[in-house]
Amino acid sequence: MKGIILAGGRGTRLYPLTNIVSKQLLTVYEKPLIYYSLSTLMLGGVRDIALISTPEDIPRYKELLGNGRKWGLKLTYFVQDKPRGIAEAFIICKDFIGNSTVSMILGDNIFYGNMRLKEVYANFEEGALVFTYPVKNPERYGVVELEKNGKVIGIEEKPDNPKSKYAVTGLYIYDNKVVEYAKNLIPSDRGELEITDLNRYYLKRGELEVNLLGRGIAWIDAGTASSLHEAGSFVKSVEKRQFYKIGCPEEIALRMGFIDTNGFSKLLEEIPNCDYRDYLLEIYNEFNQEV
Ligand code: DAU
Repeated sequence: MKGIILAGGRGTRLYPLTNIVSKQLLTVYEKPLIYYSLSTLMLGGVRDIALISTPEDIPRYKELLGNGRKWGLKLTYFVQDKPRGIAEAFIICKDFIGNSTVSMILGDNIFYGNMRLKEVYANFEEGALVFTYPVKNPERYGVVELEKNGKVIGIEEKPDNPKSKYAVTGLYIYDNKVVEYAKNLIPSDRGELEITDLNRYYLKRGELEVNLLGRGIAWIDAGTASSLHEAGSFVKSVEKRQFYKIGCPEEIALRMGFIDTNGFSKLLEEIPNCDYRDYLLEIYNEFNQEV
């Protein structure tokens, strides 16, 4: 399974915050927003990841994340010169995807809780799988219509009258037909290749499944000033109470076996003295005791 993080767009909803900084580099408590989506893919065992952003912002992501080797990843960067839609990601990453299956995550989405992603990714073979989450304001999202048995029968983008409370989150898995299907899409009225149209394409062919995320999971789309603030408060509340951090790529790399303890201590050498480093040091000690 390959991974794509989509971190482009104009970020206009967050003006003036995004005037000179990419939205996905903004702060969610003590980490950049992008760390959370990257962590989600890593927890699924995905190590070969493409990051898509604007021509202006790609250099900043490269500076922050590099080639990923320090975290046992392979990161490749792709430019989307204009926000022509979420589904364009698959056309941009055509060669990167090759014959593989692929999971895309929107760089402003945060997931917390045990989603058994490693298992879900390992068992995925073909078609499309979207993750849905019951919300109070489905009209802000893609929304699925479900039969009683959980089978999806419809999907709409930001409907005025949502047919269910189940929002489609910004985490998707596709087989490699996705490139062909994305190429067949027609831009919507707002001139974008819509992810919902792509999912409809799969649905029409009977190839779309949903994974209903349950009560133990938190999902935040941090794309507005208010939800970005809520995301920071959420992470702070959990991390203040619970010893473990949310969305810490260094820790995940170690626990997933992407790097060994030598690689981890090298990382520690490069991090300045700060609370984040103190945490990683505790993780290092705990890990050494467990092994
Ligand atoms: O967060 C989940 C929702 O994400 C889904 O429920 C919707 O079906 C899906 O359309 C999307 O809705 P948004 O209103 O959040 O989409 P937005 O246009 O804000 O784009 C989401 C992210 O993708 C945003 O952080 C910027 C990035 N993006 C977007 C477009 C259109 C790109 O990098 N390139 C693009 O061309």
